[in-house]
Amino acid sequence: MSVKSIYPSKGLKGEVNIPGDKSISHRSIMLGSIAQGTTEITHFLKGADCVSTMNCFRKMGVEIVEKSDYILVHGKGLWGLTSPDEVLDVGNSGTTTRLLSGILSGQKFPCTLSGDESLNSRPMARIMTPLNNMGADIKSLNHNNCAPLCINPGTLHGIHYQSPVASAQVKSAILLAGLYADSETSVTEPALSRNHTELMLQNFGAYVTSTMHSDGSATAQVEPASELYGQQIFVPGDISSAAYFIAAGLLVPHSEILVKNVGTNFTRAGFLKVCEAMGASMTMLNKSFEGGEGRADILVKSGTLKGTTIEGDIIPTLIDELPIIAVMAAYAEGTTVIKDAAELKVKETNRIDTVAENLKAMGAFVTPTEDGMVIEGGTSLKGAHIKSYLDHRIAMSFAVAGLTASGETVIEDSQCVDVSFPGFFASLEKLS
Ligand code: S3P
Repeated sequence: MSVKSIYPSKGLKGEVNIPGDKSISHRSIMLGSIAQGTTEITHFLKGADCVSTMNCFRKMGVEIVEKSDYILVHGKGLWGLTSPDEVLDVGNSGTTTRLLSGILSGQKFPCTLSGDESLNSRPMARIMTPLNNMGADIKSLNHNNCAPLCINPGTLHGIHYQSPVASAQVKSAILLAGLYADSETSVTEPALSRNHTELMLQNFGAYVTSTMHSDGSATAQVEPASELYGQQIFVPGDISSAAYFIAAGLLVPHSEILVKNVGTNFTRAGFLKVCEAMGASMTMLNKSFEGGEGRADILVKSGTLKGTTIEGDIIPTLIDELPIIAVMAAYAEGTTVIKDAAELKVKETNRIDTVAENLKAMGAFVTPTEDGMVIEGGTSLKGAHIKSYLDHRIAMSFAVAGLTASGETVIEDSQCVDVSFPGFFASLEKLS
């Protein structure tokens, strides 16, 4: 177990480069592996989760070459993966497990996926049900609808699936299986979740459409594919990682930070809208667009924040940022209400519980609810021992909280930040 001590900061200044987007990095390895030809990925995130994805595909015969500043994936085509001779280790990664299950459902060999304790306790019925409806045979080896999962592929049929949750992992698993189906496949979700799979599939040559409905629900549809084609991918910085630095710049008095190369895809950018609603001082600079994904540098200056209400269709666009938003809310003036976010309970930890427990340890007033929490802001927080429970987003959120708390904040199991942001603490120290 490693611990990290955080002390109050007198002001953060300078520029920070944000590592590559985790969701896009996973997908670039996956699509690159099942495409024909070579995919070159620049600014790939070498975090533990994406390394799990990379290693799973290597075990299925894909050659992946790591150069100093880019990755080459020598694709095997849609039907070229080979049967691994061991269980595929998905580590801590829900994205690897769920998206890979979609791809494996269309292969010709059976396969078993298993991960760490947290991963093996996360719900998998959400992908087993639609993929089994399509014709796969996925079993939970412990009969608890969790991994380890044994995936027996089958002849896949196109379905229309009405997803009960707005989840990009569920949507993507179905769309990826749909590449292998005998007719078109579509998924309707109650609100639009991140659309990286749809955008990247289009770039790789698949026929995908997306439709927004008047009630806020959204449908993505894919046609069976005969081949995908390798691409050049420039991964933008991960807005979920940028959020810690944006929050730090807003909260620590006398700060001015340029957060560089942040992905601004509208299906991910809810955090920026919340910052705006809280009265943040932020300027978007150097906006650009590549492969359907927007990016910008964000100049952040510290200032007073005010509480807000976060609910409804915006939730899927900031689901991973809710822990750091809760920290911001604790320092803001007034009350912040987070609703419609029951999905927080099934992330790497139950983030309603782990956020509330750690905020309380620092002296904040927070009431957990069934689908979110209510935070009474404006209290001065004190340093505390923070239990990350090996959840990277909890560790990083409370490291930021520690920068404006009194005394020492100790982050337990701080090494878990490597899941999505290797070098996080070094980047933070550089700004102090
Ligand atoms: C992800 C989707 C989100 C997010 C996760 C990454 C993805 O999960 O929380 O960190 O890459 O598709 P859900 O889609 O299940 O909400």
